[in-house]
Amino acid sequence: MHNPRDPLARFGAVRRDPVVYQIYPRSFQDSDGDGVGDLRGVRDRLGHLAELGVDAIWLSPIYPSPMADFGYDVSDYRNVDPVFGSLAELDELIREAHGLGLGVLLDIVPCHTSIEHPWFREHPDWYIWRDRPNNWSTAFGGSAWTRLGDRYYLHSFYPEQPDLDWRNPEVVAAMQDVFRFWLDRGVDGFRIDAIDRLLKDPELRDDPPAAEPFGLPLRADEARLALTNSRNAPDMGEALGAIRAAAGDALLIGEVYLPAARWGPYLQHFDAAFAFELLQAPWEAGALRRAIEESTRLPGAAWVMSNHDFGRLGTRFGEANARAAAMLLLTLPGPAFLYQGDEIGQLDGPPGESGLDRAGRDRYRHPVQWDASPSGGFTTGTPWLPPVDPERRNVEAQRGDPASMLAFVRELIRLRHGLGDGLELLDAEPGLLAYRRGEHVIVINVTEEPRPLPAEAGDVVLATHEADGLPPHAGVVTA
Ligand code: NOJ
Repeated sequence: MHNPRDPLARFGAVRRDPVVYQIYPRSFQDSDGDGVGDLRGVRDRLGHLAELGVDAIWLSPIYPSPMADFGYDVSDYRNVDPVFGSLAELDELIREAHGLGLGVLLDIVPCHTSIEHPWFREHPDWYIWRDRPNNWSTAFGGSAWTRLGDRYYLHSFYPEQPDLDWRNPEVVAAMQDVFRFWLDRGVDGFRIDAIDRLLKDPELRDDPPAAEPFGLPLRADEARLALTNSRNAPDMGEALGAIRAAAGDALLIGEVYLPAARWGPYLQHFDAAFAFELLQAPWEAGALRRAIEESTRLPGAAWVMSNHDFGRLGTRFGEANARAAAMLLLTLPGPAFLYQGDEIGQLDGPPGESGLDRAGRDRYRHPVQWDASPSGGFTTGTPWLPPVDPERRNVEAQRGDPASMLAFVRELIRLRHGLGDGLELLDAEPGLLAYRRGEHVIVINVTEEPRPLPAEAGDVVLATHEADGLPPHAGVVTA
């Protein structure tokens, strides 16, 4: 008998390389006209996801929150914010998703709470305090310490997000209860936020000067420091083990902002870590190849090339490369995370227009464009952020068009589950990225010029384009 909580069992054979579709609930589908997406809206659109062929959905935070960081500032880990709906609606969503064969991952934010979480008032000793700041900075820049009374509390992100002290056993126990709470409601797994920040130096010492590069992009002021005390403490495994103990065999994917070479303790307890080397790689064959090579030395990479923090495929890599980028994302082995709207090639919004997120990420969060109407079919009210260009691209128009990005992504997902085990990077001529997955060879032309197909390629079974060969920006799956 399969353990009903075993995600591998639930997803059967395809589970090996699942496609997880990221829903940013605020921007997915509004059902009540308040201009903000909600859980009923997600339920109404599950058919689209089943048709697309994804294996699971990941819901960015849906918990009660003052929304200083749009839900990544949680004020109650065991409920649903009224703007998104209710616990009963989440239960119903989980039930319906499972009925369609879709797993459900929640986003757990264990590193910090909202400053409005009752814990901050009732259990100040669950947080991290110091008499004066040290040299640690927040992910967004500026000191990670804010004064309250005669002490300073630590916040790795916004000041409204005080860091929990995972060295306090009461914190560990409280968060373990949170995992159990959601598992009991039928959730299949979790994306775990900012996990490399969970444990810091117990003495809260300054970060020393950097002796070598960090291995991932950092702000200039951060890059000068070794970042060995403000995060990723040597005993991190203990905290991760406590999470695994509570989560049983649920799927755990960690947001670990570290190069893959430093994933060791994380993968001892989690199933996968986001491969930031690929997410941060420029659209350049050598850089992409190196990122994939680094991230696949050991199994455990979860692939992500776009999300609510970094922007969309079509903007990050250029509209001309959107299909080839989707091909890369969806032909690598291991879990792949597809950000809502990328299946129709949506673009980011204009920079700096709305200013709701202080870190400038609004432009990555415009609503999904379901139809060509001015609201894109997202809401009957005033959208919290306007759709970008629903008249140019939307789900409804693409659904009926076999040449659309949507049809292409659907076909990629179907093919993905038939790709062979493992990954062999092939030596191809400059500007081409080529790799083998069993019987299939995937080739992507990362240049602006046409290229011949390499000798290893077989017959084309799926192409980003209609012409023969490998035009600029093209990719093919061959067998
Ligand atoms: C990563 C999340 O993806 C991001 O949106 C958030 O601001 C930080 N973690 C802090 O929770």
